[in-house]
Amino acid sequence: MGALTSVICVLIRKLCIMSPCEDEEVDSNTGLKVKEKRAISQTWKYISRNLRRESLNFLNLLLIEYPDYIEYFPNFRGMKLEEFNKTPKYIAIARSVFCALTLIVDSLDEPDELVEILHTMGRDHYKRGVPIEAFHTLPNVFDKFFTSRLGKTYTPLVKESWMKVLAVMNAVMEKGMEDTKAAKLEQQNHK
Ligand code: HEM
Repeated sequence: MGALTSVICVLIRKLCIMSPCEDEEVDSNTGLKVKEKRAISQTWKYISRNLRRESLNFLNLLLIEYPDYIEYFPNFRGMKLEEFNKTPKYIAIARSVFCALTLIVDSLDEPDELVEILHTMGRDHYKRGVPIEAFHTLPNVFDKFFTSRLGKTYTPLVKESWMKVLAVMNAVMEKGMEDTKAAKLEQQNHK
């Protein structure tokens, strides 16, 4: 039964590859084509095989590229990267970031849930004093990260797909940050 299911899956997959029309179909919620969503989930599946190690590589890259961002992480201010890299707290943050990315990738076909996740992420980062500008650097960080991790499989399609996801991510997170700021102001005005 399992073997039969696998054969059917392979056949369906082949039919999908042979159906360029479907590949080009655009999801009106995310602006992503079917083939772009597939590129996203395939690359993420590959990266997630070593989620712990790769999450550390990613967060380290962010802090190497933008050393001033350490100011947003009060627990590690004044410490060297090599020092805090070994702390369970830092490892836990890195893993949380990648778990959130897994959630985002897995929710690309569930727009309402995706918006909820990203809006909340915007709120949480705003509460920590992280401005949206810090997220505008992510295309650069992801580009460098994938270039080093994916090698030849980091094709123009993969790059373009991820850049689209990051644009969606940042737009909804920014809304989450703005809504949180507005709610806070309203609260203050009613005091
Ligand atoms: C790839 C995009 C990112 C994702 C998916 C992400 C997700 C997360 C998650 C899930 C957490 C821990 C859960 C929580 O307590 O809210 C977290 C914490 C945090 N993130 Fe992000 N984040 C991202 C990018 C950034 C960027 C660009 C910055 C800017 C410096 C940043 C700064 C922080 C800080 C300061 C914390 C709290 C760390 C602490 O507990 O001390 N994040 N992030």
